[in-house]
Amino acid sequence: MKIDVLLGLQWGDEGKGKIVDVLTNNYEVVARFQGGPNAGHSLEINDIKHVLHLIPSGIFHKNSINVIGNGVVLDPVIFKEEIDALTDLGVNAKERLHISKKAHLILPTHRILDAAYEQAKGETKIGSTLKGIGPCYTDKTSRNGLRVGDILSSNFIEKYNKLVEKHKLILNQYNFQYDISEYEKKWFESIELIKSFKIIESEVVINNYLNQDKKILAEGAQGTMLDIEFGSYPFVTSSNTICAGACTGLGVAPGKIGEVYGIFKAYCTRVGAGPFPTELFDNTGKELQNIGNEFGATTGRPRRCGWLDLVALKYSIMLNGVTQLIMTKADILNSFETIKIAVGYKYGNKIIDYIPFEIDNNIKPIYKEFKGWETDLSDISDANNLPEELINYIKFIEDETNVPIKIISIGPDRNQTIFK
Ligand code: GDP
Ligand code: IMO
Ligand code: MG
Repeated sequence: MKIDVLLGLQWGDEGKGKIVDVLTNNYEVVARFQGGPNAGHSLEINDIKHVLHLIPSGIFHKNSINVIGNGVVLDPVIFKEEIDALTDLGVNAKERLHISKKAHLILPTHRILDAAYEQAKGETKIGSTLKGIGPCYTDKTSRNGLRVGDILSSNFIEKYNKLVEKHKLILNQYNFQYDISEYEKKWFESIELIKSFKIIESEVVINNYLNQDKKILAEGAQGTMLDIEFGSYPFVTSSNTICAGACTGLGVAPGKIGEVYGIFKAYCTRVGAGPFPTELFDNTGKELQNIGNEFGATTGRPRRCGWLDLVALKYSIMLNGVTQLIMTKADILNSFETIKIAVGYKYGNKIIDYIPFEIDNNIKPIYKEFKGWETDLSDISDANNLPEELINYIKFIEDETNVPIKIISIGPDRNQTIFK
């Protein structure tokens, strides 16, 4: 059996949480492979909205096994908050959730370092979620990090203090004021909770599942344009959000990757700083933001909005080897008379159809216009009954990308999903 991967093709918030929840009907295991509590994955079940940051989006399915993979960075405090919220809803996460021993821990001082680095950057700040993601991955790659498995060792406190001392030296240099005492207390309480979960060698467990022909879905966080390697660097996150990240973040060989579901919004959004070629600064952008309720699920910040960017989408499809596309939030475009897609960029006096090394203000998108469908989609459940204009919109994207759009999402609820 192979492992299927679902990942974002834009700048995050494409609707991964909702679709993973929907697809979990067909999977026995859901595994997060990268990122941390910078993610906010929303799902809506029976009019109740849930936001998950660390816990895989299959958790609401009674019979699913959910794995936090080695590629994830885990903040125990946020983990505990999520577990408490699930417990209140009657979800027994302890039965369904496994945590990799190799997942790195976000320390309270990682969060402070994130804030100190952002403050020092001033105007050029990334717009980080301030969850300590960058500093935690930095410690991972500089071989200083603490991992979930370390909490079981007798000298854990010693290891913790040693790393915190290192962080304090850096923070002193930045002259950054902070007080972690309260958060640190909660952090250690939460560590005790983690100890009561199944802490596993996830790479071995996942490969055993594959050998037993169990169906596994790998859940990505963020989006391809935020990938540390191929995103709009330095305005990116600190992990590999692309499909290759599922191999390193779960310990799965490249040949074991099956379907790659690439998810995108029918338009584009971005939260935080950095280039965004199709961003709209006019009323249309505001309308997309209002109708789409485009506010970050993790930080509540308004999301910047714009038209679909086919140049970026094709780039993402190439990097991930996407085999099936999923388009979300089609319903947000219901009232638009005209809809646009960027099909190329004017770059100085050249026309290009690729993402250049530096995306700057010299880039001007070239748009193709589409007639809007101006129809409420809420009663449609069969793809054949979609309005002709939406069918044309979908067909154009499929023809340009050479990848079929298999799912069209027309609302936040589980049931507002059309399979094609
Ligand atoms: P994720 O990070 O990729 O999981 O996406 P987020 O949860 O951060 O953001 C997607 C937002 O859109 C959430 O509020 C979802 O509830 C909502 N959503 C997802 N799919 C649809 C859809 O098809 N239509 C509408 N109107 N909302 C959707
Ligand atoms: P999900 O999984 C949207 C953005 C931040 C910032 C940059 C770096 O919900 O799609 P970080 O905290 O990682 O150092 O921030 O990346 N960012 C996201 N944007 N959705 C996310 O996750 C994001 N996770 C990080 O806004 O610009
Ligand atoms: Mg999100």
